[in-house]
Amino acid sequence: MVLDCDPGHDDAVALFMALASPAVSVELVTTCAGNQRPEKTFANARRLLALAGREDIPVVQGSPRPLRRELIIADYVHGESGIDGAELPEATVEPDGRRAVEAIAQLVESSDEPITLVATGPLTNIAIFLLAYPDLRDRIAQISIMGGACFGGNYSAAAEFNIYVDPEAADIVFNAGVPIAMFGLDVTHKAQIFTPEIEAIRALGTRTGEVFAGLLEFYDRSTTRPFLAPDDHVEGLHMHDPCAVAYLIDPSLFTMVATRVDIVTSDGPTLGATVVDYNASSGREPNALVGFDIDRDRFAHLLHTSLASFA
Ligand code: BDR
Ligand code: CA
Repeated sequence: MVLDCDPGHDDAVALFMALASPAVSVELVTTCAGNQRPEKTFANARRLLALAGREDIPVVQGSPRPLRRELIIADYVHGESGIDGAELPEATVEPDGRRAVEAIAQLVESSDEPITLVATGPLTNIAIFLLAYPDLRDRIAQISIMGGACFGGNYSAAAEFNIYVDPEAADIVFNAGVPIAMFGLDVTHKAQIFTPEIEAIRALGTRTGEVFAGLLEFYDRSTTRPFLAPDDHVEGLHMHDPCAVAYLIDPSLFTMVATRVDIVTSDGPTLGATVVDYNASSGREPNALVGFDIDRDRFAHLLHTSLASFA
């Protein structure tokens, strides 16, 4: 798989979950602009792979901005570095100077098996890849996306952050004819972990445990709760991005519904919304499997055992 990410606290958890699992093989990490500016998300991904002892995996920087819009960042959630709350080691390998879409294309072309793309940030890089290399679309097994929502949003009343940042890219991806699994807020708000579970990560007594406990505590303090309705009772910390990886490791964790998803790209109060045709009222063919429910306890167990497998 390729992980296209904008680390990002929950992106970091998603990365480590993928690295820990024998069910998936991370062949390439590409970074997008989103939670922080592109040079920061690139640096963070490189440092996370240094922490994991996996600098053999190439990290390649993607587009510095959305396709048509000014970049919006989520420093109010992820901090000045994009991953505040813990000290990460410096990368020890030279930066890979390729462009993300070229690196994805080279991997897809040379791989014996179809490649799965996992997208945990705005979909800019994935859209550019699909447009630039249409002949490679049928070599993509699926695209597992954290983004969107059937109901409501966390950046605006109607839009989730990753889709809002680059709605034109999301529109291209959802209409590319490649199988899509979408993990929106409907399911990621159920993918919670709780304070004792963060404490159990620190109690691992490893450097990785210490780093992730610090990251998760910071993320917990700055999370998107202010964007929820006042009567929403949110007890835990939303592990958005790990859902897109956990599905590849164990699809039985999720309840998925095949449905049509369209993206609102016109300016106005619904910009960046994912219009999920849950009741099939459009009569159009489904273009995505959309996650609606999760076995929270088994997901939290997978998250813990993933982090526990690192020194
Ligand atoms: C998404 O936005 C980012 O802040 C998180 O990393 C996640 O990808 C949640 O809306
Ligand atoms: Ca992310």
